[in-house]
Amino acid sequence: MSKIKPSKGAPYARILGVGGYRPTRIVPNEVILETIDSSDEWIRSRSGIETRHWASPEETVAAMSIEASGKAIADAGIDAAQIGAVVVSTVSHFSQTPAIATEIADRLGTDKAAAFDISAGCAGFGYGLTLAKGMIVEGSAPYVLVIGVERLSDLTDLEDRATAFLFGDGAGAVVVGPSQEPAIGPTVWGSEGDKSETIKQTVPWDRFLPDLRLRAGGGTPTGDVSELPLDSEGNVKFPAITQEGQAVFRWAVFEMAKVAQQALDAAGISPDDLDVFIPHQANVRIIDSMVKTLKLPEHVTVARDIRTTGNTSAASIPLAMERLLATGEAKSGDTALVIGFGAGLVYAATVVTLP
Ligand SMILES: CC(C)(COP(=O)(O)OP(=O)(O)OC[C@H]1O[C@@H](n2cnc3c(N)ncnc32)[C@H](O)[C@@H]1OP(=O)(O)O)[C@@H](O)C(=O)NCCC(=O)NCCS
Repeated sequence: MSKIKPSKGAPYARILGVGGYRPTRIVPNEVILETIDSSDEWIRSRSGIETRHWASPEETVAAMSIEASGKAIADAGIDAAQIGAVVVSTVSHFSQTPAIATEIADRLGTDKAAAFDISAGCAGFGYGLTLAKGMIVEGSAPYVLVIGVERLSDLTDLEDRATAFLFGDGAGAVVVGPSQEPAIGPTVWGSEGDKSETIKQTVPWDRFLPDLRLRAGGGTPTGDVSELPLDSEGNVKFPAITQEGQAVFRWAVFEMAKVAQQALDAAGISPDDLDVFIPHQANVRIIDSMVKTLKLPEHVTVARDIRTTGNTSAASIPLAMERLLATGEAKSGDTALVIGFGAGLVYAATVVTLP
């Protein structure tokens, strides 16, 4: 017989507030055309992207997160001190340790909130939301702040035709708290590690800086330095995100529509019951294809934030959510299907009630 008392959480969890931060600098396709052989028409028609935001040196991962979180906390109508946990999903925080979440939790004024980072690529928001729901229902935090934040411009090879136009920077945050009725459905999530090579960092850090590592007494570098990719001037390229665009595209179109349908089934609703569809913003053609496969009715509002935001990975869903609510295209209480997918390959889909 266990001596441990059962934990006491809320009956259910819900998203109570959302906030976003988009860097000040807006980058049109013309800027991308300075370094790759392409055209504005090709980029718009093949990806849907017209402009994206790139962060300045001051718009750090922490700074953007704090801006987005401040709005989410105000939107939720709570005080930062009530937050029990801060979960940050990012692949562009460049310090191995500590997690950036701890600095963010402190600067926001939380009362020693638990804080940690997760690495789940473009599914990171859904992964964070699932953890948050668990914490609320289990009773280990009264409110949880989930942040998706990226400075993907730092990890973009501007000479790579396949990716130079895709990525953007920004932060999106939500506050998750208690609810008397279900407002975050069951998550359908998973990973397909056999496809991990399709989206990855070009060169791991320990191979990128072998000399520095040796000089710093950091042990023996792994890999062959002569394999490092060079730019058009013969300099070693900074590591970047590379992908097999077509393979990822096909996977997203065929497999993710099935996952989205499973999330609807798990929540016990049909496409007719949906008000809003917020897929990860990777390519407008992937979004359109999913809408078709899922047979979403005309009345469902579909997020196509990618046009002016690009692919911001973990930030894309909360940023799109915030914009739809701000423009009035979606409203508080609407039922929304969210699905993220990306590097890993990983995915997470769930039905939520909008804050
Ligand atoms: C990247 C992506 C937009 C490329 O679109 P695509 O239609 O697959 O393009 P392809 O790679 O098949 O190339 C089609 C043609 O355009 C050309 N092309 C490729 N990049 C180009 C560019 N930037 N500008 C102009 N032409 C380009 C190719 O050379 C090819 O020419 P060809 O037909 O003469 O051989 C698309 O594959 C994509 O969005 N993939 C998934 C991205 C994604 O979901 N990532 C998830 C990360 S979270």
